[in-house]
Amino acid sequence: MGNADIGRRSDQAVCGNQWRPVGIAAVLIEGKGMFLLSGEGLTKYSEDDRLGRFLSDSALEHEKSLTCQQWLMDSAAKRYATSSVYSDLLETSGCRILDVGGGLTTIQRVLSEKHDCTLVDVLAHDTEESVQTFFDAAPNLAVRKQDWLDVPSTGTFDVVIANDLFPNVDQRVEAFIEHFLPICGEIRLTLTVYNNFRYYQTRRVNGDEILYLLAWNGAMLRPVIERYAGRIEGFSADIFETKSDSIFPNGRHVIVTTIKGDQSR
Ligand SMILES: C[S@@+](CC[C@H](N)C(=O)[O-])C[C@H]1O[C@@H](n2cnc3c(N)ncnc32)[C@H](O)[C@@H]1O
Repeated sequence: MGNADIGRRSDQAVCGNQWRPVGIAAVLIEGKGMFLLSGEGLTKYSEDDRLGRFLSDSALEHEKSLTCQQWLMDSAAKRYATSSVYSDLLETSGCRILDVGGGLTTIQRVLSEKHDCTLVDVLAHDTEESVQTFFDAAPNLAVRKQDWLDVPSTGTFDVVIANDLFPNVDQRVEAFIEHFLPICGEIRLTLTVYNNFRYYQTRRVNGDEILYLLAWNGAMLRPVIERYAGRIEGFSADIFETKSDSIFPNGRHVIVTTIKGDQSR
């Protein structure tokens, strides 16, 4: 496993031949910096399924059994969500990317072959052996196995990504935005809300207490993201409390959001 030099700055601040804002990936898919993944969008995405094609063409045999790769292979909705934040990056090069909670898939390996890419992940899902096999085949991927809050906010990145992390896995979404906004060109998030009263029974790692944790709904998330409305193209307060049908079996709604960072040009 490599050690990321998080403070480095790429000499060539280019994405492709010439630097350009990598364009909000969301723009490539839906024409806005914020949108809700919808049944209509999924139907349109599925006509081409570019991430499905990418995985068929590029996956190495050992990658097919990794947990996050299986989520992608098993669900068109998951590929649609993931494609919304990664697709343009899989077709360009030369960006400085910080992928937070990206998990291990063919996407992270291929990104590391085209870009200056660092993965920050506590690596919750796979065995030590399969993790090591993955990293052996991805020598260019810089890795920090740690909580993202422990990543120093030094250096700069063109794009910081958190796909399927906030606020369902980690409720510290505001702290995350504040931590990385000053040092990046843009933050790309897929934000998950449950507008159907979902909660989890959990137990503290450092205590006996059993906690019932409410999954965030749109009304909880909206005021947090609204603070950054001026940095989000096409910000819409209405989509947070949607009652539309979910494209996921567990009823969640996913909002794809790109927030302009202080380093955007
Ligand atoms: C729900 S999974 C999503 C994985 C992948 N991005 C996807 O969409 O399939 C959450 C990921 O975040 C990682 N993770 C959870 N908490 C984290 C933290 N505090 N810091 C860094 N990574 C974290 C997990 O190991 C896992 O890979």
